Amino acid sequence: MKRIILITGGAGFIGSHVVRRFVTRYPDYLVVNADKLTYAGNLENITDIESNQNYRFEKTDIVNKQAVLDLFSKYSFDGVIHLAAESHVDRSITGPDEFVFTNIIGTVNLLNAARSSWKEHPEGKVFYHISTDEVYGSLGKEGLFTEETAYDPRSPYSASKASSDHLVRAYHHTFGLPVVISNCSNNYGPNQFPEKLIPLAINNIKNNKPIPVYGKGENIRDWLYVEDHSAAIDLIFHKGKVGDTYNIGGNNEWKNIDLIRILCSIMDKKLNRQNGTSEKLITYVKDRPGHDMRYAIDSSKLQNELGWSPIPEFSEGLEKTVDWYLSNTTWLERILSGEYEKYYDMMYSGR
Ligand code: NAD
Ligand code: TYD
Repeated sequence: MKRIILITGGAGFIGSHVVRRFVTRYPDYLVVNADKLTYAGNLENITDIESNQNYRFEKTDIVNKQAVLDLFSKYSFDGVIHLAAESHVDRSITGPDEFVFTNIIGTVNLLNAARSSWKEHPEGKVFYHISTDEVYGSLGKEGLFTEETAYDPRSPYSASKASSDHLVRAYHHTFGLPVVISNCSNNYGPNQFPEKLIPLAINNIKNNKPIPVYGKGENIRDWLYVEDHSAAIDLIFHKGKVGDTYNIGGNNEWKNIDLIRILCSIMDKKLNRQNGTSEKLITYVKDRPGHDMRYAIDSSKLQNELGWSPIPEFSEGLEKTVDWYLSNTTWLERILSGEYEKYYDMMYSGR
């Protein structure tokens, strides 16, 4: 094997796309997917590649220091792509602790293990930390987040990710650990857990349930198709400058309510409903506490230096996403039963 790569969180939404991309594009890499399999981790996301020769799964909780050290002794990793995290803002509001454990302590455990394992030969190694644009805080009507924007996290989720970003940079400056970081905007696409806006809305429209829109639906997000993020991760992992940060975004800003209206119209078409039927399900609910108003990314550094650009138009990406959810009903139904049902009731009843 030419390189042994650790991908953390590879059973989650973005991680599963990254694992598939690396396993299929780089047959001479051994790809080790370490995931705790929380509620958000699902090995069914990657059944198509699970029997490939160059793929291994290791059930690992990154908060468990010894388990992380054992993993680094078992494999001589040449690179790490760290995606494992608690990722949902609403859950970070109802229960911040897990975000501190996984996102901060889990990251430190990986940094320590990489540092001690690469001490003698750091050449050619890279610790790639995947982060979010939410660390920059909330924008007003104007402006974009650049790599120089000061951090101003405002939810327990973004504060825990900001903290992990700082630690990754500190390990670079203090210990010379070869690191690279990227901060990406909101992703959408197949395999996203249906607690996030787009898959939640698709599922509710399908089942004629109310579509909960927080506040007035005026908040703006910059949406990127998950495979575009995955392609950016591939590029940054291989060509990113050690010590640098890259912002990744879709240049694709939408107010939540406008996005939901487009989704309703796509769903009406796909479900052979009269145009306008699904929009009737839109229900304004109590706003998220501390709800960030607008995120928008300037990804010109990544575009100019590494030649990346996002591919599908939003309507095309959304249509692909809707098609995936409508034809993967078993995947969805399995997730929607049990614990998730309890979460949904807790989060949305009486809102
Ligand atoms: P996800 O919630 O779908 O998946 C997270 C994965 O991490 C799951 O497989 C889960 O089992 C695993 N995990 C959680 N805690 C763990 C632990 N203690 N040990 C080992 N594994 C653990 O998340 P996602 O949306 O795929 O996000 C992946 C990464 O990308 C995160 O770091 C997130 O902050 C970042 N990110 C996400 C978005 C987005 O829009 N989803 C945007 C920018 C950045
Ligand atoms: P989400 O998918 O949770 O991503 P993030 O909070 O990380 O941006 O939410 C996207 C936007 O949609 C955000 O402004 C909150 C809003 N939202 C709703 O209006 N209703 C919902 O049920 C959810 C989950 C989100």
